[in-house]
Amino acid sequence: MKKIKLAIVFGGMSTEHDVSIVSGTSIIRNLDKEKYDIYPLYIDKKGYWYTYTPSEKIYKVGDNIDNIQYLNNPIEYLWNMDCVFPVLHGLYGEDGTIQGLFELAKIPYVGCKVLASSISMDKTYTKIIFEKARLNQAQYVYIRENNGKYIYVDKEFNETIYNINEVTNEIESQIKYPMFVKPSNSGSSVGIRKVKNIKELKEAIEYASKYDKKILIEEGIKGREVECAVIGNEEVEASCIGEVLSAEEFYGFDAKYNNSESKTVIPANIEKDIVEEIRKSAIKAFKAVNGSGLSRLDFFIEEGTNKIIINEINTLPGFTEISMYPKLFEAVGLEYKELLNKLIELAMK
Ligand SMILES: Nc1ncnc2c1ncn2[C@@H]1O[C@H](COP(=O)(O)OP(=O)(O)O)[C@@H](O)[C@H]1O
Ligand SMILES: [Mg+2]
Repeated sequence: MKKIKLAIVFGGMSTEHDVSIVSGTSIIRNLDKEKYDIYPLYIDKKGYWYTYTPSEKIYKVGDNIDNIQYLNNPIEYLWNMDCVFPVLHGLYGEDGTIQGLFELAKIPYVGCKVLASSISMDKTYTKIIFEKARLNQAQYVYIRENNGKYIYVDKEFNETIYNINEVTNEIESQIKYPMFVKPSNSGSSVGIRKVKNIKELKEAIEYASKYDKKILIEEGIKGREVECAVIGNEEVEASCIGEVLSAEEFYGFDAKYNNSESKTVIPANIEKDIVEEIRKSAIKAFKAVNGSGLSRLDFFIEEGTNKIIINEINTLPGFTEISMYPKLFEAVGLEYKELLNKLIELAMK
């Protein structure tokens, strides 16, 4: 059988560039070399493209990439491919922009299309869609920062311009502490803070606005953090459930990548009917954002009530051999290599 010419695009211009190097090189190592001719493409933080010659090196978060060669015309390069696997997390990778480029170039690609990617990258728009799907989620408001003013947007999209004191009073009137303040477009917890009073709230809003002008403020949920992976286009399958045991107060960047005390439990020790409810909600949420290919859906199980509360969707979740997404499928009998085959098959359909 003729081999499939497969480009793996990794690195990228987002705050998650370093994580993508680990995911991308891990996928390259594990792909079936009998099935695919692999063409690794690295994008640096500025947006320049390079070809990458794979080595035996196992990358860790923070390592610089080696063995790269500047690529003058990435589009022309992509035109020669049968399929692309974008292993890019965050902005300019997980948000529909690069998916738009692949659409224009008419190349099949792994994962969510433009619409699902861009909705899912924007935490505020994800909330709006999840609300419509009647999925339980944390109470929220959102604002936009504009030249030191704060535009508060209500549930019917009416806007009021406030200063920082007015806007934090408005937020306090609607949401209880502790709150989570998040740049609407972010990932790997970058720019996110948990706040317990008005002073921290003001600081967190200013901090988040450095990453995105749109800022989401949510009520804090107390409970267990669990994740479910899905795969499929029309027919979507959900994995088992994994639990995250964060070594820190919340699952921030360091807790995720730098604190070896953070643990995951797969499958999580949860009652069967809760497991089924999470799996059903995961598929519903994935469909609600128009998802295809793959995603990881993250939930809380609220302490005391056992209520399932959806937190977010990741259309290009971490993808190293030890990441939650592949692990969740491995636990139900789908090996990493086979999982990659299946995703590429779905892309080429
Ligand atoms: N509303 C919330 N209640 C409790 N914890 C939260 C809430 N929102 C976020 N967190 C904590 O912060 C972490 C990062 O937030 P998340 O929205 O998942 O952002 P990211 O896209 O960066 O992963 C979560 O894994 C969780 O530990
Ligand atoms: Mg998250």
